[in-house]
Amino acid sequence: MKQIKIFDTTLRDGEQSPGCSMNLREKIEVAKRLEEMKVDVIEAGFAISSPGDFESVQTIAKTVKDCSVASLARAGELDIDTAWEAVKCAADPRIHLFIATSPLHMEYKLKMTPEQVLEKTAAMVKHARKYCSNIEFSAEDATRSDMDFLTKVVDVAIKNGANVINLPDTVGYTTPDEMRYMIEHMIKNVENADKVEFSVHCHNDLGMAVANSLAGVLGGARQIECTINGLGERAGNTSLEEVVMAMHTRPDIFGEVYTGIDTTKIYRASKTVYNIIGQNAPLNKPIVGKNAFAHESGIHQHGVLANKKTYEILTPEAVGISVNNIVLGKHSGKHAFESRVNEMGYTLTNEQLLKCFEEFKDVCDKKKTIDDADIEAIVMHNIGIEEEGFELDWFNVHTSNFTTSTSTVCLKKGDEKFEAVSLGDGPVDAAFKAIDIIAEPVEHTFDDYKIRSTSAGKDTLGDVTIKLTADGRTYTGKGLSTDIIEASITAYIRAINKMMAAAARAKEA
Ligand code: KIV
Ligand code: ZN
Repeated sequence: MKQIKIFDTTLRDGEQSPGCSMNLREKIEVAKRLEEMKVDVIEAGFAISSPGDFESVQTIAKTVKDCSVASLARAGELDIDTAWEAVKCAADPRIHLFIATSPLHMEYKLKMTPEQVLEKTAAMVKHARKYCSNIEFSAEDATRSDMDFLTKVVDVAIKNGANVINLPDTVGYTTPDEMRYMIEHMIKNVENADKVEFSVHCHNDLGMAVANSLAGVLGGARQIECTINGLGERAGNTSLEEVVMAMHTRPDIFGEVYTGIDTTKIYRASKTVYNIIGQNAPLNKPIVGKNAFAHESGIHQHGVLANKKTYEILTPEAVGISVNNIVLGKHSGKHAFESRVNEMGYTLTNEQLLKCFEEFKDVCDKKKTIDDADIEAIVMHNIGIEEEGFELDWFNVHTSNFTTSTSTVCLKKGDEKFEAVSLGDGPVDAAFKAIDIIAEPVEHTFDDYKIRSTSAGKDTLGDVTIKLTADGRTYTGKGLSTDIIEASITAYIRAINKMMAAAARAKEA
């Protein structure tokens, strides 16, 4: 049995995609979930890309103990030096350097000849190797490269000290047969191929990233690069949960390989990432979508009642989804609440538990029964990473369908209180304008406002997500309440607090 290493790039390839930016504390939270899930390598960022990225790679390198931590670097000395500076304190640091090898990329992007690319590969792998023995080399756009040239590049990278060779399908262009062939070709034709690990890194432009990664494994790849929820550029990367569960569910095909992933931690990691980026899994998302294990049609329900295996190829429990939907209410005590939260796969600190329980009691006053979806929303809202700043004290709105809405909002910051009044097109707009008068946020665009109910029933909780963008980065705020105006105000304040904290940090740097 051979282990397939899981290299997670949620914090690099995932985070750099639009609308998915995370702050340092959010990245640390994701890294903890990845470590708990036992991924082999965490690619924590691209250290040279910004001081913020450098800091997060370095902090994750210091924090994570049980996985290797990598930083991406272009094939240039300064990139490699900076990557090393950021990861050198990790328990198992890795430098991941790349250069493009396809004719298109070499001619138009790098403006280099194939000979120059070969020389650069040799020199840069050698340079990185001076720092550490864990060197991954990626041939960007490998799947559109000339196979003979790619073979030479890989050969040179290995001769100069790379121990992992990654062959990315950068533009999501390849097919499973081609991917398998490419890996088999390298293993057969490159000298010392048996001394290194081959890796696949697939993008999902044609919806084949998972299939291509699995084909790479059948061809002999020993590492898969992927992201939680398939986050990533354009149509995303290989989804960790899908590729891991495919191997787990089909031992008849993948019986010779295994991953070290604790699959029961998958759902929590997925929820954490969706919560941070302010998205929900599409209902039919494999493995983690709300309907992934739902059986709606009569024929299916009948089959599942007779024997689950008729329509279920994997169980929700295997990925950490709790199916025991016990309903709690205002008479449920802290212990009942805590044990339900634990059964659902969350371990909270005392402080988090108290906060969640307080909110649970508040919600119980307004809503008769609280089910798992409500509890999950309460937990997510209270363990979310918030920046210090303004908090809602109270608000008052006057609205009708024949007058302009008016809102008065009072915010707290430390011991100080601030009040403002504004008119607006509806109560939410009026409240946001009053908040703007108080908070004076930096220039930004208001990108998204989403509201969804956590469960059925008119007394459901309103779960609001707001996205603001300033200076090319997206800031997400979330609010939860049976009152959707209150939920909207909370979400807006939280997004503003994050945006203002980032602006203040940028000013200090
Ligand atoms: O898609 C790609 O080619 C990459 C490399 C930098 C590994 O992300
Ligand atoms: Zn990529």
